[in-house]
Order: sequence, then C-alpha cells, then structure tokens
Amino acid sequence: MLDHTAVLFFVLLAGSHYGYLAGSENLEIQKPWDNLSTYLENLPKKIELPPPKFRLIGSRYFYIEQQIEQNWTTAASTCREMGGYLAAIKDEEEAQAIIARLTPFVFYYVGINDHEEKGSFVSLASGKPAFLKWSKGEPDYVFHDQNCVSIFNFNDNDEGLMVGPCSNKHTFICQADVEI
Ligand SMILES: *[C@@H]1O[C@H](CO)[C@@H](O)[C@H](O)[C@H]1NC(C)=O
Ligand SMILES: *[C@@H]1O[C@H](CO)[C@@H](O)[C@H](O)[C@H]1NC(C)=O
Repeated sequence: MLDHTAVLFFVLLAGSHYGYLAGSENLEIQKPWDNLSTYLENLPKKIELPPPKFRLIGSRYFYIEQQIEQNWTTAASTCREMGGYLAAIKDEEEAQAIIARLTPFVFYYVGINDHEEKGSFVSLASGKPAFLKWSKGEPDYVFHDQNCVSIFNFNDNDEGLMVGPCSNKHTFICQADVEI
C-alpha cells in the first residue's frame, strides 16, 4: 500500500530522472513539478485581480472616471496611482463597448498620443500603435500643441477619437494592463 509520502517520493524521483534524460540541450521539457516556484511565478498574469474600481469591459479591465477633469499628464499620473495606465483601445469591439459607457457629449482622455512623432499615434502604456477609431474629420490639428487623444459619444451624431491640446482638462479612462 503506497501512502502519500511514498507517492510524492516516486514523483520527485521520476521528475529528476526525466530531467536527467532530457539533458541540458533542451531545458524546456521540464515538467511543472521540477521547479514548482518557477512554475507558479510564470503563470499567466491575467489571473491576478485587477486594481480596485477597475471593471471588465469586453476582455480587459478599465476604470472610467466620470467626474474629475484633469489635463492629460495629470490624468496619466492618476491612472498610475490607481494601479493602471491611461487607456488605449484594442479593437472596434472594445471601442464600441467603451463608447456605450460614456456620458454623451463629454470628452474622456485616453493614453493615445503622438508626442514622439506627429501623426504616429501610440499607446502610453505599451508604446504600441493604437487602434484608431477617429470621429468625423479627425485627426484635425487646429492648434500647435495637439498631441493628446480623447474619446467621446455624441449619441447618434458622431463618436470616437479626437486629438487636442494636452493642457485641456477632461475626465479620463484607465486600463489595468499593458497589452496595448
Ligand atoms: C527554481 O526556481 C527558483 C526561482 O526562480 C530558482 O532560484 C532556483 O534556482 C530553481 N531551481 C532549480 C533546480 O532550477
Ligand atoms: C498639467 O497640470 C500640471 C499641474 O498643474 C502641470 O504641472 C502640467 O504641466 C500640466 N500638463 C499639461 C500638459 O498642461
């Protein structure tokens, strides 16, 4: 009759034997039990809980600030203090889900900006090119210091992104991850 200790001992033996057979040429073949702490550390980060106040919208966690208006840099800092990043949008589906949650006729800052290179819009969190759902006539550079993007919902008239001066104060949207 095998008790648990004996089973565990056998598994450990088998594990180390397997590791020996696999040889140093392919360390990838290690089984989870070869090094449990490393295995646990490398589990996908998605199972971590999002920061407080962040809610699932589509497939990612966001916080939509509906009251406080800040300029773009301050809004970015506020998102960091909350454990997230000024948001960028992944695709059309996500854009629609976010737009549906916006108060009509209010501008919300997102992390999309072209500070590095005019006309090249990237996400503040990842530096990756952002998905761009421009509203009608955008991007339209009226003033010289327009590098910061906001999103709005004008009900059925218009919706999407607009580029404007970063010193303007708007409410804002934070994301929890750095996927985009
Ligand atoms: C197991 O993982 C830990 C943490 O990464 C590491 O310090 C240790 O050297 C590893 N042990 C083996 C046998 O690979
Ligand atoms: C935002 O406001 C802060 C604090 O007043 C200021 O230091 C910063 O320069 C402003 N940023 C922009 C882009 O206007």
